[in-house]
Amino acid sequence: MLAGLPRVIDANVLVGFETSDDAGVYKLSPECALVQTVDFFTPIVDDPFTFGAIAAANALSDVYAMGGKPLTSLSILAWPAKGDLDDLQQILRGGAAKMIEAGCVILGGHSVTDDEPKFGYAVTGIVHPDRVLANAGARVGDALVFTKRLGTGVISTALKRGIAAEEHVSASIESMLTLNRAACEAMLAGVAHACTDVTGFGFLGHAREMAAASDVTLRIDTSQLQFLPGALEYAKQGAIPGGLNNNRDFVSCHVGVHESVAKEVESLLYDPQTSGGLLVSLPEADADAMIACYPLAYRVGIVVPRGPRLIDCY
Ligand code: CO
Ligand code: CO
Repeated sequence: MLAGLPRVIDANVLVGFETSDDAGVYKLSPECALVQTVDFFTPIVDDPFTFGAIAAANALSDVYAMGGKPLTSLSILAWPAKGDLDDLQQILRGGAAKMIEAGCVILGGHSVTDDEPKFGYAVTGIVHPDRVLANAGARVGDALVFTKRLGTGVISTALKRGIAAEEHVSASIESMLTLNRAACEAMLAGVAHACTDVTGFGFLGHAREMAAASDVTLRIDTSQLQFLPGALEYAKQGAIPGGLNNNRDFVSCHVGVHESVAKEVESLLYDPQTSGGLLVSLPEADADAMIACYPLAYRVGIVVPRGPRLIDCY
């Protein structure tokens, strides 16, 4: 869709829209670059405060995925003319609480009337121009580390169908509420080469973008991948979000999956995530250091020379 747009020619644009990166990056000075991103969506949980907080964690994530530090944000709101104002206030409070936790100041925002509620933020952060973590940059020999468990889309679908256990829903919400800040700090303690956050296109959709931008193949060991409790069972029972099938249609031609990988595991590799984890490509020693510093992080594979497919799963 973006292909017909005029190319931006400005030496200060360090990351533009051409590489499907998490955020745009614009150099202000040799020491400082702006990181800018925007994300908003319709309610994904019943509780309005929780929805606001998840929307904030999700919007902030794209700044962390560039190795940046969020500074300011603007809220974006669509709300029905006759919508419940208490719910609206709770959404704004939930978002504000998460922004405070991230040390990111809300400067203002904009709202429109719409039958379907939507909420999110535009977030601005900073990063050193030499330490921008784009999709391109993964190197052969790197380890791949991931920082959250997969399955928020499947669990949301199971919830809508009335088959999700309460403790599984709470674990999914807890994961979506977790800021990627600590994961980002652990990643920045060493020398990371590339990073993206895993969101709407699923683990393989975002991994594909990293592999393509870096011109390498990612080898994913699915036995190391971690899933939210309940996610594999619900996938087996057919609680498959529409977005999962779209992701599979779009990405599977770039992916080789060994026949030993279970069908429900393969499905979850395409599950659209809300406020998902960081996928990081970094040298082996830095992977050890990152995991020691952020124990929720774990290895999921390695980077190998570009083969016939962008991703191999076994
Ligand atoms: Co992203
Ligand atoms: Co993004």
